Amino acid sequence: MVVHLSVIVPTYNEKENLGELLARIDRALKGCGAPYEVIVVDDSSPDGTAELAEELSKAYPVKVLKRPGRLGLASAVLSGLKVAEGEAVAVMDADLQHPPELLPRMLEELRACDVVVASRYVNGGSVRGWPLLRRLTSRGATLIAGILIPKVRGVRDPMSGYFMFRRSAVEGAVMNPRGFKLLLELLVKGKVSGVREVPYTFSTRIRGKSKLGAGEVFNYLLHVLALAPEYVRFTIVGAAGVLVNLGALALLVALRAPHLIASAVAIEASLINNFLLNDLWTFKGGGGGWWSRLAKFHFSSALSLLAQWVTSVAVYYLVVSYPLLAQLAGILVGFPINYILSKRLIWQRGQHA
Ligand code: GDD
Ligand code: MN
Repeated sequence: MVVHLSVIVPTYNEKENLGELLARIDRALKGCGAPYEVIVVDDSSPDGTAELAEELSKAYPVKVLKRPGRLGLASAVLSGLKVAEGEAVAVMDADLQHPPELLPRMLEELRACDVVVASRYVNGGSVRGWPLLRRLTSRGATLIAGILIPKVRGVRDPMSGYFMFRRSAVEGAVMNPRGFKLLLELLVKGKVSGVREVPYTFSTRIRGKSKLGAGEVFNYLLHVLALAPEYVRFTIVGAAGVLVNLGALALLVALRAPHLIASAVAIEASLINNFLLNDLWTFKGGGGGWWSRLAKFHFSSALSLLAQWVTSVAVYYLVVSYPLLAQLAGILVGFPINYILSKRLIWQRGQHA
């Protein structure tokens, strides 16, 4: 069976690349007999990319979407998706850093899975001409995604801007149009049971300029945090709480408060910190009134501290008498108790899954 393919190409000032891109896509896909359409999503590029795309639509199966202004890469892809008619959808850059010759191979692989990633980081893939800093940023970003978003862990190049998926994988999924990384959204929110990666070489841009600025790094971090599951956020909040706890203690000690009081106030400060962050961010609101959630959070935290203490003491006296190991065992028991109680008892009606 031959599937119909929609190739979404977001463009901003890519006039110099568009002609060659469309010619190469056409050659590649004609060769394998796949019916296709290209959807150029242009954000009113001042260089006249959209006008050229319209001109080229006489020679190739091209739809042109003109948007009123620069609204961003991911949102351009989502706009393209709305008009895409193919059962298979590919996303690629216009600047020829993504070789169109890979499309038939990706289409082939898509028969056996839901998402195919053109990957720089599997055997046979590479990047050419990147300075060390850009290499490190890309690797670091991939590492962070893997740590914070478990669903992404099996994928070697989740940062890739070149990928293909079955349309059915995104049906019903609500994707966030901000940020550069639509593949991450797809992997987290889509109905994706299988992912395959095919190697390619990401070469340097020959014409035009990159639109990825340093500001994207910060955006990216926010994006990854937004996609992280609840237990990961809860852990991050817990770690922040430790810092607040120690920071408050240091401050109070500097103010000459007696330790008896300083310690209690610091603990309470970290509890309130954790409560606020969990309420506003991890679980985004929940059942009951605000005060009752706050009270319940004190209860669940107290219970988890008690469990920590009991475990620590038991391990210390019955198993190994290393204080740090015993304490760590306590934390490993207490933490999930706090998480489960928080989720079930306090924020059970939070909207996030
Ligand atoms: N419509 C629209 N609107 N298109 C845009 C916009 C925008 O605001 N910003 C960028 N584009 C288009 C560009 O014209 C190009 O076709 C494509 O999106 C990628 O932009 P580049 O500026 O070439 O990005 P890059 O090469 O730095 O980054 C690419 O590689 C990364 C992997 O390291 C992208 O594919 C990233 O998504 C990818 O993560
Ligand atoms: Mn590029």
